[in-house]
Amino acid sequence: MFTANGYYGLLKSNYLFSDVAKKTAAYSQAHPEAQLIRMGIGDVTQPLVPAVIKALHAAVDDMSRMETFHGYGPDYGYDWLRSAIVSRDYASRGIHLDLDEVILSDGAKCDVGNIQELFSADCVIGVMDPVYPVYVDTNVMSGRAGRFSESKGGYEKIVYLPATSENDFVPSLPSERVDVLYLCYPNNPTGMTLTAAQLKKFVDYALENNVLIIYDSAYEAYITEADKPHSIYEIEGAKKCAIECRSLSKTAGFTGTRCAYTVVPKELTAVDSFGKTVSLHDMWARRAATKFNGVSYITQRGAEAVFTDEGHAQIQDVIAYYMENAHIIRTSLQKAGYTVYGGINAPYIWLKVPGGDSWAFFDELLDRYHVIGTPGAGFGASGEGYFRMTAFATRENTLLAMERITSGR
Ligand code: MLT
Repeated sequence: MFTANGYYGLLKSNYLFSDVAKKTAAYSQAHPEAQLIRMGIGDVTQPLVPAVIKALHAAVDDMSRMETFHGYGPDYGYDWLRSAIVSRDYASRGIHLDLDEVILSDGAKCDVGNIQELFSADCVIGVMDPVYPVYVDTNVMSGRAGRFSESKGGYEKIVYLPATSENDFVPSLPSERVDVLYLCYPNNPTGMTLTAAQLKKFVDYALENNVLIIYDSAYEAYITEADKPHSIYEIEGAKKCAIECRSLSKTAGFTGTRCAYTVVPKELTAVDSFGKTVSLHDMWARRAATKFNGVSYITQRGAEAVFTDEGHAQIQDVIAYYMENAHIIRTSLQKAGYTVYGGINAPYIWLKVPGGDSWAFFDELLDRYHVIGTPGAGFGASGEGYFRMTAFATRENTLLAMERITSGR
């Protein structure tokens, strides 16, 4: 008899952004005249840059000709794209990677979700709190989280590391056993990031305690301060303890185009559940070969253009546009009397909710100003009392939203 995976039933609620979308849709239906401004889900609004569009068009033409047509590509990604990634994202920062340490996919969300197939069933998971919900939910689905405990404000078996204004959004090292630690820097949702010295503490802890770090650096392109690390591999020893996930979604406006990659260094080994020493790189590559037929040729050609001088310069302009939005949001909210964090090295602004109830604040913002954000409680117990706004709206909408909030209209 077929039985379904019961762990899905342990998921606390819907996926956060589905809840926000549902509430927004219900409001919109009840108030069709309301001009809603969406600053909730971090979805980009600016078109792909011209260099990418040109490359995509040329790739479509390639597919129309017998001599340049492409069927299945390599499961891990074409070498020309992996080589562009290695040289622009890593060699430029003094990090040596072999091409085959980079494995392409259609999104960092999929990679950070799928990576847990490499963990044994009894691994203890540690996450920052607040946390991008995918890290937790995927481990709930595979039975590593236990039940949700209302008194703990989280899943029984997950170790939560609070990151709040009390510790400047830098969590303490775990004081109990953790086998896998998810870190996201620049951080979603708080918009804060770490210095190299702060990140080194996590790397040293992982090396000393045999912990695997899953490092999500999907927002690294938004770092504006020169002293902040873009990659965990800038820290000595990290190749022995960390996997890094990156995405072109926010870097180059690929949320609707889909291209990302994960770096699994060959130095990264572990003892498996049968006591054998294994290469996590080989396991991840095996997984890709078995379950994935690669990112489309057309998309990879578009992605390649992101790493050219021309494409890189063009995406810097788009990033600067969003970061100017972040500045506008930060300063406007500060003027309106809010305490705000983030928005300097990330496209997210994390504000303290007056009164502390973040879903009530969501309703108030929606009802009074027709502005949508994301309640901090949706990211975990330590997110309660905070609220996230994204800088990815258009300039016009960003200014309008801030005008409505600051003028109280
Ligand atoms: C977010 O709003 O946190 C992100 O856009 C969600 C995602 O990247 O999946």
